[in-house]
Amino acid sequence: NRPLRLGVAGLGTVGAGLAILLRDNADIITARAGRPIEITAVAARDRNRDRGIDLSALTWHTNAVDLANDPGVDVVVELIGGAEGTARALVESALTAGKAVVTANKALLAIHGDALARLSARHNAPLLFEAAVAGGIPAIKTVREGLAADRLLSIGGILNGTCNYILTAMRETGRDFADVLAEAQELGYAEADPSTDVDGIDAAHKLTILASLAFGHPVEFDSVHVEGIRSIGAHDLSFARALGYRIKLLGLARRSERGVEARVAPCLVPETAPIAQVDGVFNAVIAEGTFVGRLMVEGRGAGAGPTATAVAADLIDVARGNTVPVWGTDIRTLKSVRSRPASEW
Ligand code: NDP
Ligand code: HSE
Repeated sequence: NRPLRLGVAGLGTVGAGLAILLRDNADIITARAGRPIEITAVAARDRNRDRGIDLSALTWHTNAVDLANDPGVDVVVELIGGAEGTARALVESALTAGKAVVTANKALLAIHGDALARLSARHNAPLLFEAAVAGGIPAIKTVREGLAADRLLSIGGILNGTCNYILTAMRETGRDFADVLAEAQELGYAEADPSTDVDGIDAAHKLTILASLAFGHPVEFDSVHVEGIRSIGAHDLSFARALGYRIKLLGLARRSERGVEARVAPCLVPETAPIAQVDGVFNAVIAEGTFVGRLMVEGRGAGAGPTATAVAADLIDVARGNTVPVWGTDIRTLKSVRSRPASEW
């Protein structure tokens, strides 16, 4: 069978992780995809950086956007990051050229998802983003496929690995915020600008995507109430402990007759609750539906291996032709919704 040929933009934590996964698991990926999945072209900023992968046989594009019109590329894999600039230009160009796009870019989806959904539909070019929410947890598939038959009432969870790693290390070892953040960056968990993590913005991006899928309307990112963890100190963590609680950065969205409410904030959770036990880089996605009741799915929320498995799962779907519209339904029937201001909840 003809290989599915990938143009990968971004060879950092996730891009290099994907190349290693496709190499090391080529046998099972080929079997499950029905054909080989191979990287044929790449783009990054520094051509001379050692990334632990052999790039010698691949086409190198100095301008990543050129991957969109490379005739040797069937699928564009966007792993640069950021809601604007090269990442956005590449995704828009690839969809316009009718090419499937797989991305891990939650900022792009949360801010421009609605417009990209229309572009994807207009050009019949699938846009997949399993890796954009909760790293290795199949969060998108859980909501879009596993819970497809139910009416969801709420969705959310621990959606940022860096913050959970910081809060866990501060609580368990008393280490300093800045020191643990530097470690999370070193491990490849943090965003290029780590204030995106610690100010709650990354979790809000993911919550916007999850809520859009769960409620069947693109939720407006700007309307999500966002607080981060900068103000949490050692004294807060020890007060919480004394009262039988832990502090977790939670993103929660719910739908009522009065509309959508979506917020990200540090929350006190009883230390006996299952979500309180989700520590370190782990994330948890929680949902409640009218028929399914409550559920929680837990796993590594950041890092090369977990995120690469999510990207590759999307690539297997593209190879099989197993793709759906961006918000999982017919977008022409949908309108964007705003979250009600926190003061009205
Ligand atoms: P990195 O910072 O590790 O890698 C970014 C890559 O993009 C680098 O290879 C960089 O090139 C390249 N790059 C940056 N700007 C350009 C440009 N203008 N043109 C071409 N290449 C460019 O990021 P991550 O791998 O951590 O993240 C990538 C994406 O995945 C982001 O959207 C992120 O939010 C998302 N994500 C990350 C997770 C993680 O755990 N790290 C988990 C889930 C999603 P060079 O190497 O030469 O500098
Ligand atoms: N910076 C993100 C996090 C990466 O820490 O959760 C995974 O999306």
